[in-house]
Amino acid sequence: MKTIFDFKKKKESKQKISMLTCYDHWSAKILNKSSIDAILVGDSVAMVMYGHQTTLPATVEMMAYHCEAVCKGAPDKFIVGDLPFLSYRSSLEENIKAVHRIMQTGVHAVKLEGAHGNLDFISHLVQSGVPVMGHLGLTPQSVFQLGGFKVQGKSSEAQTEILNQALALEKAGCFSIVLECVPSNLATLITNKLAIPTIGIGAGASTDGQILVLQDMLGLNSDFKPKFVRHFINGEKILLEGIEFFHNETINQTFPSNKESFE
Ligand code: KIV
Repeated sequence: MKTIFDFKKKKESKQKISMLTCYDHWSAKILNKSSIDAILVGDSVAMVMYGHQTTLPATVEMMAYHCEAVCKGAPDKFIVGDLPFLSYRSSLEENIKAVHRIMQTGVHAVKLEGAHGNLDFISHLVQSGVPVMGHLGLTPQSVFQLGGFKVQGKSSEAQTEILNQALALEKAGCFSIVLECVPSNLATLITNKLAIPTIGIGAGASTDGQILVLQDMLGLNSDFKPKFVRHFINGEKILLEGIEFFHNETINQTFPSNKESFE
């Protein structure tokens, strides 16, 4: 299993880091057999697996169930668990309870969104032995504050603000930062200024690594194709072919065969 030090070394030796989201046991088992560097149990689970319009309905318990399933399926991978909406914006005691619950599922780090108001808590977690991943740019938990799922950091003021937040997250002790939906020039600037690795999603090619939602990159959701997503396979078509095959074999009475039946 890779560690936070391997990710830093990868950045230093200019090797890219690959990361995918994962929410369940069977896909975790597949990712465990792959060469992928790390897994994120993202709060996007609320949208991808539960059909919500935003990530806001994700709860600590929901995240914990999914983290546990993924950890059991991918024992050889470095796994980050997302802290859901508002779970780290309460009292220190409540925030720590949320992190404790997520860490006890077996994940190796937590991720939280934004810098403002989180820096002391991040330092506290890092000093308590919890690796923390930051997340800047389009931070989906702030979707209503941002006025929608929009590219961030377009103006030079916004770019300076995001860069300063990235530097503050690094200083607070984050081991890595996700940069979501920001212009490539900003991602390049941040990546060059930071000693810790940046992981991009919709942030161009210069970040130290890339992350995508597993279902998006497998083309399992053909209706969803934002600019930054590539369908590496047409998963929906492949799955439908398998399902149609089963259906046809069943109605044609060619499944199950004798070999697939008990005497
Ligand atoms: O929740 C999530 O899946 C994420 C990634 C898109 C970075 O935060």
